[in-house]
Amino acid sequence: MTKIFAYAIRDDEKPFLEEWKNAHKDIDVDYTEELLTPETAKLAKGADGVVVYQQLDYTPETLQALADAGVTKMSLRNVGVDNIDMDKAKELGFEITNVPVYSPDAIAEHAAIQAARILRQDKRMDEKMAKRDLRWAPTIGREVRDQVVGVIGTGHIGQVFMQIMEGFGAKVIAYDIFKNPELEKKGYYVDSLDDLYKQADVISLHVPDVPANVHMINDDSISKMKDDVVIINVSRGPLVDIDAVIRGLDSGKIFGYVMDTYEGEVGVFNEDWEGKEFPDKKLADLIDRPNVLVTPHTAFYTTHAVRNMVTKAFDNNLALVEGKEPESPVKLDQD
Ligand SMILES: NC(=O)c1ccc[n+]([C@@H]2O[C@H](COP(=O)([O-])OP(=O)(O)OC[C@H]3O[C@@H](n4cnc5c(N)ncnc54)[C@H](O)[C@@H]3O)[C@@H](O)[C@H]2O)c1
Repeated sequence: MTKIFAYAIRDDEKPFLEEWKNAHKDIDVDYTEELLTPETAKLAKGADGVVVYQQLDYTPETLQALADAGVTKMSLRNVGVDNIDMDKAKELGFEITNVPVYSPDAIAEHAAIQAARILRQDKRMDEKMAKRDLRWAPTIGREVRDQVVGVIGTGHIGQVFMQIMEGFGAKVIAYDIFKNPELEKKGYYVDSLDDLYKQADVISLHVPDVPANVHMINDDSISKMKDDVVIINVSRGPLVDIDAVIRGLDSGKIFGYVMDTYEGEVGVFNEDWEGKEFPDKKLADLIDRPNVLVTPHTAFYTTHAVRNMVTKAFDNNLALVEGKEPESPVKLDQD
């Protein structure tokens, strides 16, 4: 009987794992809550493939241990593959898949909700309510329909974000280094980032974290933006020079900042710091600001997305073990 073994299965993933298992009664599915390490690799012995998801590196030792346990077909439940030692994976003949698209709506919706909350000054109002201060002023909102929303990157997520913002009645403009023909026909694109900075009241980043995009939001780009701009980064921390954003918040140039991602997030996000010394002063300051909305990389974290991550990873792994073409193979020759 074909066997698939899954690592690091969280409680919120279990119902979707059971759902997949019930739909594939001829496959033996087993799992552990533990991460894949050189020590836990042996748990996969006897399996034909593994399903994984972790921020911990897939080191040469881990991959070797998995190969020693007889498994070289590995399906990620997430997108990112930078923590895999590709040279070793290639040497050992690994076949790998990922899930590049699981729910663009999850991330786009989060960006839209947070943008609207910033514009209505909801965090300030919530703080007043908690103190039983029920006065209106000076916590006045800005309507989304009055904003020009500038979207940088019109891929899977950017496009959904554009639709949601239009649903609110905003004027949407966009910039992408590769123009989408449909969007171009509809006249969304401006010619340059500078044009977008000049016109937009709300700016949302939906581009990948490639070297060319690191710190694309910096002192220089912020100086080109309108006063009272709202900036949204639910994409990747390194896209933003956070010190420049802090300067913009301090000077009053930036009306509000939405961040679901942060350059120093690894090892800090998705941990409970209650009662412990918080490890990042800058992040603590951002969390405390009334016009900054911080979430710990949870834009993707919805039932819809988690279901897709689990089921697509298992579908991919089954394709690999059956010698079929998986939906989303990962090329091991990464440049
Ligand atoms: N917060 C979360 O939970 C979460 C979850 C998934 C993805 N993301 C992030 O969201 C971002 C967008 O993901 P996606 O699936 O929409 O990607 P995508 O590949 O579908 O789209 C990215 C778009 O950005 C464009 N682009 C690249 N560099 C650019 C630049 N300098 N200027 C303008 N456009 C540029 C590309 O041409 C492409 O159209 C990525 O950074 C991804 O890592 C975040």
